[in-house]
Amino acid sequence: MRNDIAAAVDAALAEVAAASSAASLAGLSGSVVGKKSPLGQLKSKLGSIGDIDERKALGQALNDAMRAVEAAIATKRAECESAELEAQMASEGVDLTERIAPSRRGRTHLVTQATQRLEDVFVGLGFQVAEGPEVESDFYNFEALNMPKSHPARSMWDTLFVESAEPGSVVLRTHTSPVQIRVMQEWPPPIYAVMPGRVFRRDTPDATHMPVFHQIEGLVIDRNITFRDLAGTIEAFTKAFFGADFTSRLRPSYFPFTEPSAEFDIRRANGSWIELGGCGMVHPNVLRAGGLDPEEWSGFAFGFGIDRMAKERHSIDDIREMYTNDLRFLRQFS
Ligand code: PHE
Repeated sequence: MRNDIAAAVDAALAEVAAASSAASLAGLSGSVVGKKSPLGQLKSKLGSIGDIDERKALGQALNDAMRAVEAAIATKRAECESAELEAQMASEGVDLTERIAPSRRGRTHLVTQATQRLEDVFVGLGFQVAEGPEVESDFYNFEALNMPKSHPARSMWDTLFVESAEPGSVVLRTHTSPVQIRVMQEWPPPIYAVMPGRVFRRDTPDATHMPVFHQIEGLVIDRNITFRDLAGTIEAFTKAFFGADFTSRLRPSYFPFTEPSAEFDIRRANGSWIELGGCGMVHPNVLRAGGLDPEEWSGFAFGFGIDRMAKERHSIDDIREMYTNDLRFLRQFS
């Protein structure tokens, strides 16, 4: 019997040593110390031993053997659990000592910076920001802006057409003014909106022109809006965006979608003027195309180029520099 006990203990300890996970060890205790295990079966044979002292001694030896096996299971299980936890932490952990080298960080493009500043200034003046599609229908780009088919003013914009079933009916928008119509159709008045975005013209690139550039459109629709509101808004914007020592002026001009129309310039601190964009009172036909009654609502609109403003602000000689994506050039402006 003593030999049997020793053999059963050796076999049980070998099984414990071979187990490789906490989960398999948990299952093991039943099979090596349970009733049906070799040790358990030896225990059930104790009753058949006649000598009381021998029976007691063997019982004691069996209990000691079982306790030793259980202790071995517990020790090995604790080892496995901590190794498993460590492996899990290593695989899920985040290395908080990692650093990102500052020199590798990107910057927003000059034109994006200018657009964001413009939006900030107009939002500060109470405007909301809207956007419209870059591929437009003839209706929104021209017709709804008071330029019926073959209206001579259409030639003010060198238009790029998109191939379509009905030739000429789909264009790359030549200005952001079509977004005026979309906003009038979608938003209930009063409307105070600015609409920045990309526009396209059939132009050869040179120092001051790109065939793809950016504009920001403004639209105000309310009751009793007058030309004085337009002039005041342009002046308030000029001071808020460029600085208190800048002023603006309006010169008579012509756009089919505004009447009267004007061009506006801003005066730099050194006294020289730069031309910024066009503006005017929204034409009654345009209000109607936007679904508004000209007897009830009136408003003004303005639009100007963003790229030229960014060029002015950073004293860039050639507008094409902004689009060659030479990092040595772009990194100068953060
Ligand atoms: N859309 C005009 C242009 O691109 C600018 C403009 C906008 C003029 C709004 C008047 C009112 O030239």
